[in-house]
Amino acid sequence: MASNQDSNSKNSNSNGNNPEKDFKWDPLRFISKKPDEVLKKVDDRLDELEKEYFSGKKDKEENLPNILELYGVSRRDFLKWSAFLTSALMLPYIFEPRVARAANILTRTPFIWLDMADCMGNTEGFLRTAHPTPAEIILNYVSVNYMESIMAPAGYQAEARKTETVKKYKGKYILVVEGAIPTGMDGKFLTIGAKGDTGLKITRETAKHAGIIIAVGNCAAYGGIPAANPNPTSAVGLSSVTNRSVINIPACPANPVNLVGTLVEYILIGKAPQLDSLGRPLWAYSGRLHDNCYRRGHFEAGEYVREWGDDGAKKQYCLYMMGCKGPFTWNNCTTAEYNQDISFPMRAGHGCIGCSQPAFWDRMTPFEKPNADAKIIIPGIEATADEFGVGLFAAAGAGIAAHAIYTGVKKKKEHKKSKNEKNDNSGKNDDNKKE
Ligand code: SF4
Ligand code: F3S
Repeated sequence: MASNQDSNSKNSNSNGNNPEKDFKWDPLRFISKKPDEVLKKVDDRLDELEKEYFSGKKDKEENLPNILELYGVSRRDFLKWSAFLTSALMLPYIFEPRVARAANILTRTPFIWLDMADCMGNTEGFLRTAHPTPAEIILNYVSVNYMESIMAPAGYQAEARKTETVKKYKGKYILVVEGAIPTGMDGKFLTIGAKGDTGLKITRETAKHAGIIIAVGNCAAYGGIPAANPNPTSAVGLSSVTNRSVINIPACPANPVNLVGTLVEYILIGKAPQLDSLGRPLWAYSGRLHDNCYRRGHFEAGEYVREWGDDGAKKQYCLYMMGCKGPFTWNNCTTAEYNQDISFPMRAGHGCIGCSQPAFWDRMTPFEKPNADAKIIIPGIEATADEFGVGLFAAAGAGIAAHAIYTGVKKKKEHKKSKNEKNDNSGKNDDNKKE
């Protein structure tokens, strides 16, 4: 692969977007401007990579279908999944066969996966599912040259393999880092391997020559739980220890679709996707969960779960009053969902805990309580946030909390009114009966 994300980082503006003129990655360009030219560039790149990683036509055509067959995934199901990924990437349908080709190439691309300070939840989540999705199967079969949790070599042999990969595939290998990097005491809180090098040193050295660098999970992206207050090891996210550009795929664990989608996009164009100000691919993280949540109608109607297991919970009402942080969290869980469209926290009955946001462990807790401590008086409504246990931790939340309070109060009043009316009526009925 000729180009890498440094060209992207060099040209990045303060928002992390790529202003490069000749090949700006904006899906709308494919529809509105010079689509033929862009498609030719993508096709040429795919041809070049296929030539590099496959020995012949048969090898290329049978690679991924054969792998998927092992898991009982038919070619038809794979094409359906490619169509799903194409739309998740916000690409026009003309990209579907190209996305399938890129996924095939991805299985042969050299990979280094480093584990730093974390619980390995992303590794576990991607590689050890009982019924893996195509994204997980692809991750299982990427050409992993170094990954401590699954590789056969150990000790010096394992380290030699890493060094060899860096040397042989300079500028081409994909580096995925999972876990935060402790920087306290010069990184000595985390030492790895036979030589006892610090995670800090290993990460910096490996990042230097990578074609693309991805921080997967909240810990690698922003420090996550190891960096939570009081952060005794001074753990930080990957972008704080390297001057290379880092693509963050946060969440706890990250959705495999977001990792594979980002890698597929890289295979297609040789660059990182457009990123938001927190280094996250816009195609996956530009939407606020609250705006796409299937419980949103209940939020608008002031219908909330108020106690675990109550009637509202059974009716799948909004989880805001139970602490849902969806209004303050940007991710695609509500549309891409986990385990191939099967579930995500709110569908499972729990509110979002904001796991794709920086410092979520400190800023989003307590997880099962509405954002506390603010006293908001809504004009015309004699109620405060405290009455509902609702508060704010950010100014952006004011509208949300206000709405929740307003609709909640209105709902309560309506409920009280109808209860009084009922009592009145039943009183009248009793009177009637008496008469
Ligand atoms: Fe969905 Fe949570 Fe928003 Fe309610 S508060 S609509 S459960 S994201
Ligand atoms: Fe995390 Fe919230 Fe999605 S908790 S998995 S960002 S719904």
